[in-house]
Amino acid sequence: MIGKFFSVVLVAAVFAVNTEGSEVCRPEYPVHFISDSKQAINKGCYHSSSDSKVFPKESLFNLRSKIDWNQWVLTNNGIEIIRQCGQEAIVRNKAYFGVEFYGECYFGDTPDFSLSKVTVAENCTKLCGMEVGGASAMMVYEVAARVLSCPAISAGYFIDDTHWAWNMGCYAQSSASHVLPLGNVDNQSSKTNFVAYRAAGHAGDMVKICGQIAIQNGASFFGVENYGYCYYGNQPDKSDGEVACTPQKCIFDIGTKEHIVLYKVMDV
Ligand SMILES: *[C@@H]1O[C@H](CO)[C@@H](O)[C@H](O)[C@H]1NC(C)=O
Ligand SMILES: *[C@@H]1O[C@H](CO)[C@@H](O)[C@H](O)[C@H]1NC(C)=O
Repeated sequence: MIGKFFSVVLVAAVFAVNTEGSEVCRPEYPVHFISDSKQAINKGCYHSSSDSKVFPKESLFNLRSKIDWNQWVLTNNGIEIIRQCGQEAIVRNKAYFGVEFYGECYFGDTPDFSLSKVTVAENCTKLCGMEVGGASAMMVYEVAARVLSCPAISAGYFIDDTHWAWNMGCYAQSSASHVLPLGNVDNQSSKTNFVAYRAAGHAGDMVKICGQIAIQNGASFFGVENYGYCYYGNQPDKSDGEVACTPQKCIFDIGTKEHIVLYKVMDV
């Protein structure tokens, strides 16, 4: 049954080039929400064996019986297991956790990051697909505070191999009230694609476009307003606060007219 599942579902392998030049496996998302107040930042996919793990093997919390393979087929990821492992990390007051063999959670405050990461040549889909580790790999996460007051689809998106965008919330962006300078704007509306956003459930592609513009302009913050206006800057003015959660002013994780989803550029 598991073999069939893989042949049908695990189709897309994503990867990145690490600083040593070899391509290492990279997840689809840089970060996941795990509770109302916490998120889990992806720290990479590591080789794992019974003798050599990023976290002590004694920290095992086994959720393999809780895996809902049908749900994984639908979402193409193991987010429910990641959340449950993350919530157990919060209960245990651990700064990091890892998911190995699809449903085994491990925990610690001092990860052994000297172990080797899984590379593309070794098959990311097989060893590090679905945002978790496979049979001999561990996907490692850091527990961090969640900053948004309103719900979002994703806590962040990759911009390129070395940067990701951290969702900082939905704000007003007009001449009356703005978080990023009104002059720092690049109109990418011609690339707005609602068909793709509905299919993906988010506008991660537009976030990526605006993030690249921010990086080109040396900015550490950016935002998407009116579905395709990319604003950028280094000192966001958040003094007016996030807009009310309802009615929704930011959808697909980008802003509607006169609203902006603010992102911070993070290093991978
Ligand atoms: C990688 O692993 C997947 C899942 O086991 C398999 O379908 C695919 O053929 C493998 N790719 C390569 C290049 O070996
Ligand atoms: C932004 O681009 C879109 C699509 O190219 C265009 O229709 C719109 O007028 C532009 N907006 C501004 C303010 O230039």
